[in-house]
Amino acid sequence: MCGIVGYIGNDDSKEILLKGLEKLEYRGYDSAGIAVMNENGVHVFKEKGRIADLRSIVKEDVLAKTGIGHTRWATHGVPSTENAHPHQSTSGRFTLVHNGVIENYELLKREYLKDVTFVSETDTEVIVQLIELFVNDGQEVLVAFRKTLTLLKGSYALALLDSQNNETIYVAKNKSPLLVGLGDSFNVVASDAMAMLQVTNQFVELIDKEVVIVTKDHVTIQNLNGETINRKPYTAELDESDIEKGTYPYYMLKEIDEQPLVTRKIIQMYQDEQGNLTIDPKIIKAMNETDRIYIIAAGTSYHAGLVGKQFIEKMAKIPVEVHVASEFSYNMPILSEKPLFIFITQSGETADSRSVLVQIKEMGHSSMTITNVQGSTLSREADYTLLLHAGPEIAVASTKAYTAQLAVIAILADVTAKSRNITVDFDLIHELGIVANAMEVLCDSKEELEHISREFLSVTRNCFFIGRSIDYYVGQEGALKLKEISYIQAEGFAGGELKHGTIALIEEGTPIIALATQESVNLSIRGNVKEVVARGAKPCIISMKGLEMDDDTFVIPEVHDLLTPLISVVPMQLLAYYAALHRDCDVDKPRNLAKSVTVE
Ligand code: M6R
Repeated sequence: MCGIVGYIGNDDSKEILLKGLEKLEYRGYDSAGIAVMNENGVHVFKEKGRIADLRSIVKEDVLAKTGIGHTRWATHGVPSTENAHPHQSTSGRFTLVHNGVIENYELLKREYLKDVTFVSETDTEVIVQLIELFVNDGQEVLVAFRKTLTLLKGSYALALLDSQNNETIYVAKNKSPLLVGLGDSFNVVASDAMAMLQVTNQFVELIDKEVVIVTKDHVTIQNLNGETINRKPYTAELDESDIEKGTYPYYMLKEIDEQPLVTRKIIQMYQDEQGNLTIDPKIIKAMNETDRIYIIAAGTSYHAGLVGKQFIEKMAKIPVEVHVASEFSYNMPILSEKPLFIFITQSGETADSRSVLVQIKEMGHSSMTITNVQGSTLSREADYTLLLHAGPEIAVASTKAYTAQLAVIAILADVTAKSRNITVDFDLIHELGIVANAMEVLCDSKEELEHISREFLSVTRNCFFIGRSIDYYVGQEGALKLKEISYIQAEGFAGGELKHGTIALIEEGTPIIALATQESVNLSIRGNVKEVVARGAKPCIISMKGLEMDDDTFVIPEVHDLLTPLISVVPMQLLAYYAALHRDCDVDKPRNLAKSVTVE
């Protein structure tokens, strides 16, 4: 949530900052701003709305070789120009962008800043005012910056300008992601590497509670005691084309279409030279040492966890519990003797998941992160990481990360099973190949799915997804996709649960999307469809080849029954995509949301 950038070098910074913010817009898009600094001082431009709105107010003739920028997802204060970052201290000397939440900002205001008139409702303004206060008390800027950081409770990624020194950007982070990018006679700052691939692919990771002094020729990392820390840069294995839409109208459609390719890439990445599936032996050891796995995740990744539990339990025979990250701490179950925590997270930055990771690490438990982002916070902090290799996922609605998560968990389950001499009665590499082909068939069925979407979803207020067994979990994911991008109220239910309350919501014409991909429950889910049809519902039955019946609306190709979620989700994604499109919604940037949820 929120994205920050910074540039210091020999070129005009405006375009680099604006381009960087465009790449970070997926992190928040309700307002944006940049501050650029030259010999005449600091010039701030900020605007409610998207980066395009900001771009339209930035003055071309202000040239400045140092600058910082921000795209916002509002936490404290409505989206407005006043609340947009950068924020400035009263004298205008200090200018700051911030990603995160300062939990004790009201207390700090009362204790230190009683005489200050605040111009925004944000927590951020407190930080920049504290820095000015301590500088006015006679402290050097860096000392004042550090002292301020020691007072802050919560999360932050910060970039600070001092109008009296146009050769430095001060940077710090705690819990919120932040990288420094290295160039030849310039350096940059960004919430993620994608933002600055335009100028460099060399980045240095920052660790919590570090302060960084960035000039055009040097990057000095220090801890809060002022001791210098040496850290080698890494090369971001990303290509600029990975983050372009190309000819696609929306990233979401591009990412849906990438799923066959991603599935094949995962098979390849997790294969050894002999063609066998392989996983880091340390991870397999951890899987074999545990007596119970606890999957922790949020949103789509949680839904992947529900399916992943089936894979691990059925293939590797290890008991698994799946928990919503934001609830886990309040309702922590009685843990088994040797728990292994698996964090499923596309971004690797989700604050709710991270807070559980911190908690269980303090308790001394083992942890693993399954993520798409190498070097992300959850990846760095867990004992082990499995990568999704899905390429950057930019649309807020997660699609290819979900199917990649399922493929990687299936491989983990398979390799673990074999290490325990448990026979898996199918060849996973072969079956995932069939899945990839089936995904292709589904991606080629866009016209038909658009038609179905128009028929069932173009005017409705609500929609229910039903399924039994593993289809129930895919229904939950289908409902999340639909609601988050089309704003149709949608819920996923277990077929058998409807009659215990939800059926009261069925009215004449209410669309019901029923999944029927499991032979063992095929007749019972069809019974549930009959129950809702008798009450006026309009059923859209999505079945699998071999199980289809006359009234089915759409039939997906046949794959191994345990792996059906990898393909039955594709029509769910496309139905949601077209519903959003037909309703003129911004598919990639739905209202109120952001891609990386870095606040709890
Ligand atoms: O990055 P993560 O996988 O941890 O994100 C978790 C959720 O915020 C995410 O899946 C969210 O639900 C998506 N917008 C769903 O499409």
